[in-house]
Formats: sequence, C-alpha cells, structure tokens
Amino acid sequence: MRKKIVAGNWKMNTLPAEGVELAKSVAAGRGEVCECVNFIVCPPFTHLSQVVEALKGSTIAVGAQNCAAEAKGAYTGEVAASMIAALGCEYVILGHSERRQYYGETSETLNKKMVQAYANGLKPIYCVGESLEERKAGKHFDVCKAQIEEVVFNLSEEQFKDLVIAYEPVWAIGTGETATAEQAQEIHAYIREVLASKFGAAAAECPILYGGSCKPSNAAEIFAKEDVDGGLIGGAALKAEDFLAIGKGF
Ligand code: 13P
Repeated sequence: MRKKIVAGNWKMNTLPAEGVELAKSVAAGRGEVCECVNFIVCPPFTHLSQVVEALKGSTIAVGAQNCAAEAKGAYTGEVAASMIAALGCEYVILGHSERRQYYGETSETLNKKMVQAYANGLKPIYCVGESLEERKAGKHFDVCKAQIEEVVFNLSEEQFKDLVIAYEPVWAIGTGETATAEQAQEIHAYIREVLASKFGAAAAECPILYGGSCKPSNAAEIFAKEDVDGGLIGGAALKAEDFLAIGKGF
C-alpha cells in the first residue's frame, strides 16, 4: 500500500504568528480526516521552528520549501539542509517549478540539493512538470522523463524508498486551471513506468502527488485515480478548512 499524502506548500505566505495559527488549526481538525492520510505542511524558513513546536504531539509532519546545494560556508542567504533537519523537519520540497523558473535551478543544482537532503535525513518531495508550451507541443512526457532521469536516477535504491514525487504542470499552478483527473492519471502512470525502468518493483511504492489548483471541489476526483497518491497544495493549503477538506478527498 502506497502512502497517501496531502502536503501544503505555503510558498512565501503567512507571517510567523499566522503560520502557527494555521498549523494549529490543521492539527485541531485533523481528527476529522482518515488516519490513513499523511499531512505535511511546508512553511517559510522563518517560522519552521515555531510550526514544528506548534505541531509537537500531532501527526502532522513539517517540511521546508528548499535547501542549499552546499553543506555550509560562505553562501550568503542560503539555508543548509542540516539546519532544516536540526529544527525537526522531516521533508524538503526540491525542484519546484517556481525555483526552476525564477531562480534558475537546474538538474545539476538539484542533484547537489538531493545529496544534502539525504545526507541530513530529510525526505525530498521532488517536483516535476511541464510548461503550457511544452504541453501544447505534446512534450509533457519527455519533459517529466528528463527531470526524473537527470536527478532521481542518481539516487540509490535505499534513498529512493524515502522519495516523494510531485507532478505539477506549470500551467495549472495558481491559475485555477486544473489538469483533468484523466490527464493526471495518464502522466502519473507514465512517471511510475519511468521510475520502474530504474528501480523496478520499488516504483510501485513511491507516492506520486498531483499539484496545481487542487482544491476541495476537485481533490476527490483526482485522488480516485490509481496512480495519484495525494496532492501538493498551494493556495488551498493556506486555509485549514480547505486543506483538511482536501484530505477528505480520499
Ligand atoms: P496552487 O495549488 O496554488 O495551484 O499551487 C500548487 C503548487 O505549486 C504547490 O507546490
């Protein structure tokens, strides 16, 4: 049985007090959702520590949205994976399309970030997905395949067991436009096939999340698909009620 995951990527939203409040509200309502759903919240760096504290004793895990490609040293403004791990975080999102697009993250950088994440016991949530132009040109399969081959294929079998993948089509992020459940299933199944070509049967255990305008009204339909194991949620993760309602989509 693959893990079912609903992860909230808060992006650059919430001040510390708001983030703590949001986390507490998610924890307070968590009992309404099946225990089979694993919730993760990914606040900004500035309040990771406070959110970890607020969620102590709950079953909600905390992740960061990024980590540095280097272990430590003269890298002004960067945050090392060891620092994130020391706060009690379990996950780190890597390769989000906003990082690739606005901060020039390449597979080369992401390979280094993966090394740092694993070296510090953080489980990566590795994002892949195509742009609108790539989708229109029918290149979405190739784009996702390359993003996986260039980074995930460098992991050991042991490391692969702790990996979560998020398929997030860029054209569906923050646009209100969602991939249809069929589109999601088609590419999730393909991603699993690519993973199986390298990792064999272990690919059947890798959670693959859908991300992109996922909300309470469409989550159930998307999560019902065989190869969709949950969601990476942006906007709708900023309201505890909506985030929890997405979890009820299972
Ligand atoms: P939205 O849910 O706001 O479209 O964002 C998705 C996303 O990018 C999560 O990482």
